[in-house]
Amino acid sequence: MVDLHGHLLPGIDDGAKSLEQALHMARQAVADGIVLSVLTPHHLNGVYDNRARQVREHCSVFRGHLREYAIPLEILPGNECHLVPELPAALAEGTALTIADRRRAVLVELPVHTVPLGATNILEEILAMGLQPVIAHPERNGELVEATDQLSEWIEMGCLAQVTAQSCTGRFGPRVQEAARRMLSHGLIHVMASDAHRDSRRIPELTPGREQVARWTSPETAALLTEAFPRALAEGKPVDVGLLNKALLSPKRGFAGWLQRLRA
Ligand SMILES: [Fe+2]
Repeated sequence: MVDLHGHLLPGIDDGAKSLEQALHMARQAVADGIVLSVLTPHHLNGVYDNRARQVREHCSVFRGHLREYAIPLEILPGNECHLVPELPAALAEGTALTIADRRRAVLVELPVHTVPLGATNILEEILAMGLQPVIAHPERNGELVEATDQLSEWIEMGCLAQVTAQSCTGRFGPRVQEAARRMLSHGLIHVMASDAHRDSRRIPELTPGREQVARWTSPETAALLTEAFPRALAEGKPVDVGLLNKALLSPKRGFAGWLQRLRA
């Protein structure tokens, strides 16, 4: 699996506190079946300023440590960019990092409680630059958790969205979990990521979330969200949204499938 969103780089944001913890997180990722992690320290959120050049350097140092300790996790640099009016300019001048530094897609974070005025305009500006915004964990935003209309509009414009694995398993409460289920079943989610911050609780792990998505939708959908789509984005390739719509329509297995057939 490929994890597009995680705070493993030690000591530069609210993620891993030490190299030791970062290495432990990398081992946890490998144990979960993650082969590639894009490391996405916060940027432009008013607290952390993690510019492209520094993130690339931190990434290459950490890669050296992974090699030294023989941890078979591939890592690539990125940013979790706060959705602020300055973001398009930062992307244009190259101080904010795109996903895996491929200049194709950008991981964009909303404030916790609100959708800021002008958010749609900023997303349009980024799209006009030929970059595809990937909305980080919309299910955890105070406004988007209630209704999917705004997210639908952004997806129709050409944005993608990333759900957090632990939102699906209920770690952030039933409201967030229900929003995740709703967004997923409406085809508004393209990637599942860990958004790992620590080696306990918010850990780099996708499998429990993947299993929940498979139960809610289909195993094919869960595979796209954790393998094919994040892999494409990490390689700077387009995401074939048509595959998602097809997978969502594929018959469910097990009890969910039985219910689906019963309702058909
Ligand atoms: Fe994050």
